Amino acid sequence: MKIAVVGTGYVGLVTGTCFAETGNQVTCVDIDERKVQKLINGIIPIYEPGLDVLFNRNTAEGRLKFTTSLAEGIEGAEVIFLALPTPPGEDGSADLKYILKVAGDLGQLLKDYAVIVDKSTVPVGTAEKVHDYISLGAQVEFDVVSNPEFLREGVAIDDFMKPDRVVIGTKSERAKAVMNKLYAPLVRQGNPVIFMDERSAEMTKYAANAFLAVKISFMNEIANLCEKAGANVDDIRRGIGTDSRIGKRFLFAGIGYGGSCFPKDVQALAKTAQEYAYDFQILKSVMDVNAKQKTKLLPVINQHFNGDLKGKTIAVWGLAFKPYTDDIREAPALENIEALLAAGAKVTAYDPEAMDNVKNVLGNRITYAHTSYAALDDADALVIMTEWPMFRTPEFSKMNLLLKNKVIFDGRNLYELEQMKEMGYTYYSVGRET
Ligand code: UGA
Repeated sequence: MKIAVVGTGYVGLVTGTCFAETGNQVTCVDIDERKVQKLINGIIPIYEPGLDVLFNRNTAEGRLKFTTSLAEGIEGAEVIFLALPTPPGEDGSADLKYILKVAGDLGQLLKDYAVIVDKSTVPVGTAEKVHDYISLGAQVEFDVVSNPEFLREGVAIDDFMKPDRVVIGTKSERAKAVMNKLYAPLVRQGNPVIFMDERSAEMTKYAANAFLAVKISFMNEIANLCEKAGANVDDIRRGIGTDSRIGKRFLFAGIGYGGSCFPKDVQALAKTAQEYAYDFQILKSVMDVNAKQKTKLLPVINQHFNGDLKGKTIAVWGLAFKPYTDDIREAPALENIEALLAAGAKVTAYDPEAMDNVKNVLGNRITYAHTSYAALDDADALVIMTEWPMFRTPEFSKMNLLLKNKVIFDGRNLYELEQMKEMGYTYYSVGRET
């Protein structure tokens, strides 16, 4: 099948590459000339494990191409994916200007029937708007389908190639047949393609992310209560996660969720509710809980140092919002580091992938260590913000020699309490006794 993907951000690039891998002829379109030139030269602008292998194979074999020309990109395409940014506007609602601009252009350019697919996370009613914008100029038949993406950064290829489900919102039988054909190689293991109307598909995406944000925030609140009531949130997680109605995943308490999706999508869904005059109370609580959770270690750190962080050196492990990504959007680390600096502390940080991105934000206001151990040199304490696997089983004997004090503030509950006690650490974590 010949397909076009408009927008080469995270979702667009993964979508294009993976559909090339399943044998389609894919052209990715982006208005950013520098980015397109890089992609043509084989440079992938994001860090995503496994993407390079598929990218290199499919560009080499001529199935994956890049252009800045929308007209060229959609030539002969049966399916046109819109994977464009929907940044939050000032009021928190998703801004559709990029999507609607391309929709208008498509109306002028379409020469044959095509299925236009909203892949971006877009509010309820967007498919109808896209349809209207294309209709303004279109001389041919077309369908607009909502096909939200559920991939996670860091495991994007696996999530895309082996989706739990594929959600397709359309009432058109013709479009359903095209989409079924395209997704057939990805759902061979029996995972469902779920058809529904456009509005329901759009809402499904927000409901999925908001539900996961609720799940995490619920556990974070349980953790906060555990600290007061003398219980251990790890045990609670095991105790409830084994109930198949609850499920084991996304029950890890910590310093809150970040990234480009959960915060933005929870906010946008709250905005949608507001537009429909519905008082969606859980969403308000989730936003509130998460905002507080992100900095919950700060008062603990402050108290440990008797309110005086001036001149103290704090090592920070982990800057990305989660492991296996260099993405620092809404990462708890940044907010915490800003607060530590404001309190007069010196910060030395280490992250295996995200340091370049942090340099663009914090510049030389902090020190960047070459290794996780180098960050500990002469530090008064270690703060853990991201659960990169290398932080899980460090050489404590090495750490003991480097750290000035055996003090760890762990926002991701990486270590066993007993183990830390035996080694003589003052160990603060989330939802467990100190
Ligand atoms: C999320 C969803 O998981 C994807 O299904 C969705 O497609 C994507 O948003 C999107 O809308 O594009 P992502 O933001 O890449 O994916 O990352 P997650 O792995 O979901 O983690 C989100 C945040 O939740 C991270 O900050 C993570 O640290 C936090 N988290 C996750 C917890 O605090 N506890 C957990 O148990 C799980």
